[in-house]
Amino acid sequence: MTIDDKGRAPSAPGEPKRVGRSPSTARDIERYAGLFASRTRGMKSSAMRDMMAVTARPEVISLAGGLPDTRSFPPETFAAMANQIAAESCARALQYGPTEGLPETIDCIAEVMAAEGMRVDADDLIVTTGGQQAIDLVTRALIDPGDVIIAEAPTYPGAVPSFASYQADVVQIDMDADGMRVDLMEETLDRLEREGRRPKFVYTVPSFQNPAGVTMSLPRRKRLVEVANEREILVLEDNPYGMLRYEGEPQTTLRSLDGGVYVMYLGTFSKILSPGIRLGWIVAPGPVLDKLNLGKQAADLCTSTLSQLMVSSYFHQVGWRDYVDSLVEIYRGRRDTMLDALERHFPPQAEWTRPAGGLFIWATLPDFIDTTDLLARALQANVAFVPGEGAYMDGRGRSSMRLNFSGVDEDEIREGVRRIGEIVQEQVELYGTLTGEQQAPARAAEGAPAEDAEGGRVVKIPTRRSGGERASGP
Ligand SMILES: Cc1ncc(COP(=O)(O)O)c(C=O)c1O
Repeated sequence: MTIDDKGRAPSAPGEPKRVGRSPSTARDIERYAGLFASRTRGMKSSAMRDMMAVTARPEVISLAGGLPDTRSFPPETFAAMANQIAAESCARALQYGPTEGLPETIDCIAEVMAAEGMRVDADDLIVTTGGQQAIDLVTRALIDPGDVIIAEAPTYPGAVPSFASYQADVVQIDMDADGMRVDLMEETLDRLEREGRRPKFVYTVPSFQNPAGVTMSLPRRKRLVEVANEREILVLEDNPYGMLRYEGEPQTTLRSLDGGVYVMYLGTFSKILSPGIRLGWIVAPGPVLDKLNLGKQAADLCTSTLSQLMVSSYFHQVGWRDYVDSLVEIYRGRRDTMLDALERHFPPQAEWTRPAGGLFIWATLPDFIDTTDLLARALQANVAFVPGEGAYMDGRGRSSMRLNFSGVDEDEIREGVRRIGEIVQEQVELYGTLTGEQQAPARAAEGAPAEDAEGGRVVKIPTRRSGGERASGP
């Protein structure tokens, strides 16, 4: 075996090339320690990104990532898009573009927003390098160290590193099957006001939330917008999944309800076209947008012109809604398969959400099971999920997990859930042996039919564990 100059063993022939570095030695760390900015102390890695290297192994069934099924995209359409750009706008595709984005891409964005029931003008938005950059730009523009962000509990694990790196104090508000408990949010705002603190913004994924899979009800949406107006607090509405709806009626967005005074709206092509294209957008009130634009100039000057032209070429070549419809068909089947597998293989003490759209199910196990520990066992069995802890800033979520049903096919979903269920069952039995408490066996083992064929159980949002810290940033 040879070792490359970074100290890594090379990948075996036929194996995907390894990415990432080997861990730094203590001596390496010491050499640079005095040079880092203090904000880096609070920086956290995203629970999902950490696992990308492991889940890329072909033998691992990954229910961890939020990966759309890009295998379903027709290669001939991709080739036609690339050919059109080569023939018509090669020099432009290879050139820098305006920070706010190309006009033809903004037209496509206006079309997607219209499909979600919103009208938007070119001046209202900036095209970003994915929705992730929009989260970063908003946090960068609004947050000084110690400022409060209100977020859902659990929240999007990918937002956690952004919030942490700007040293925000994130206060997480519990959810139930109707989304964030806006009544609890108001109580929290009252408490913060008594402490002389005014949150800068509320971060929410109201539709088919990542990671919990739940959707905020209309009365709560209306109240949230009222509260934002009454208390003059901005809201960041993050809506990557609104078009991926498997049942029910479309929900009115917070932006539609507010008309764009306090609600900033974040969209992305990642889940309706491709995450590899890295294209998202942020709609915000003019003065906020100006600051976001300055932040983007500092971050990357402009979003990839090539990616923007790929999107506009795509919108001209084919009906983008047909592709979204085909994704909805595929994902609905996978969601149902996962719900069915959970009924069969998870113990009766487990609970999970039944999402009406999006890509995720949030499952909560008996609280003596720690899902971070469970993941190590699951990886030995070549299956992965995201431990719930990554969706909290305060150590909660340790007996929950996020399961993704869009990235693998139905056979893999069945097998992946079966493997996790088997490991959970081992833990339940071990706990029973150690404590003498009798635990009911998994439903499949009992041979009992699913007691709730709808699979719809109440969202069990975990309570804070005794060792948990205060809800705060770094
Ligand atoms: C809620 C939420 N926001 C933002 C993103 C970032 O998406 P992207 O940067 O690919 O547009 C994701 C990706 O999974 C997400 O789930």
